[in-house]
Amino acid sequence: MTVTYTPSPDDKFSFGIWTVGWTAQDVFGGATRTPMPAERAVRELAELGAYGVNFHDNDVFAFDESDRDERVRAFRKALEATGLVVTTATTNLFSHPIFKDGGFTANDRDVRRFAIAKVLRNIDLAAELGARTYVCWGGREGAESGASKDVRAALDRYKEALDILCSYVLEQGYDLRFAIEPKPNEPRGDILLPTIGHALALIGELEHPEIVGLNPEIGHEEMAGLNFAHGITQALWHGKLFHIDLNGQHGPRFDQDLRFGAGNVRGAFWTVDALESGGYEGPVHFDFKPPRTEDDRGVWESARACMTNYLILRAKVRAFRSDPAVIQALAEARVGELAVGTLAPGETWRTLRELTVDVDALAARGMAFEALDQLALEHLYGVR
Ligand code: GCO
Ligand code: MN
Ligand code: MN
Repeated sequence: MTVTYTPSPDDKFSFGIWTVGWTAQDVFGGATRTPMPAERAVRELAELGAYGVNFHDNDVFAFDESDRDERVRAFRKALEATGLVVTTATTNLFSHPIFKDGGFTANDRDVRRFAIAKVLRNIDLAAELGARTYVCWGGREGAESGASKDVRAALDRYKEALDILCSYVLEQGYDLRFAIEPKPNEPRGDILLPTIGHALALIGELEHPEIVGLNPEIGHEEMAGLNFAHGITQALWHGKLFHIDLNGQHGPRFDQDLRFGAGNVRGAFWTVDALESGGYEGPVHFDFKPPRTEDDRGVWESARACMTNYLILRAKVRAFRSDPAVIQALAEARVGELAVGTLAPGETWRTLRELTVDVDALAARGMAFEALDQLALEHLYGVR
């Protein structure tokens, strides 16, 4: 029996306009596909069952803004015709040569001032189009060499830029929150705010931490060898998972941007589990790149596959969580016991100071984790 997994707007799937629109140039070769106007991306994604889109200013109009009105009009028309929602927007602070040393943290102060101005202008458009999240990915904020970047000063300037942007949004009365997207490297040799943890720590230093959260990406954390499901669960724990970039990656190497569900499949299973059981309510957003080998048809196949794979994994995760054998294995692994406070009500450190236990008996207790994990793999492998 073939089960079909058909996406619908209720699933809240969204895509960056730049994902399907990527013309597939890389450092070794030119584009293999032709440029795609934003309105075509919108129409095709709606046809596939997506709910929303995310865009950089320059996914819609040129850097010099000469075609801005006309391009925004066409984009808006396609949104209205299809009912697709602009969930999120962001600024391209990485393609133009002016940003070769970054935007918010460029050594050149004139560049920093221009970068913030560029973001402010696109925030107006984001608010106009109804976006609720504004992503800040600092791909060029970083360095290739040691002395070239004063990291302490760069963090001061990162904070300054975010504080300016927050005060703008608050003073304009926009219903918009910022989401910082960490990445360890590429295009810079080393990027500032390389992981979820680094970005969370910076948010705590801002003037308006309440409107700044995270947009973690699977590939970026896995490039750093980290466990993405754990990372987003900690972000949720802090109330900071404002948005997400789902894609596929095979361990620490260049940013592969594979379609979601390809790459680390087991990691994808636990990512869906973390989102579904962790109370994430934002758009289920894909940031992938259809490989350079693909023509137009391959582009839409890979976009569709991102959603199909999410739906397959969601069904598997639900089956895993409701399987009586899993419920029993969770109990045997004493997973629920971790939710019980270490101190009983009314106890303090005094209770524990002189505590004695049967060390040998506790050390001898097995944890039964292997049986539990095997059940997860059997669900994933499709035999349960
Ligand atoms: C990358 C990043 C980008 C950002 C995008 C939104 O590695 O290229 O993931 O795709 O997500 O620029 O800011
Ligand atoms: Mn990426
Ligand atoms: Mn991304």
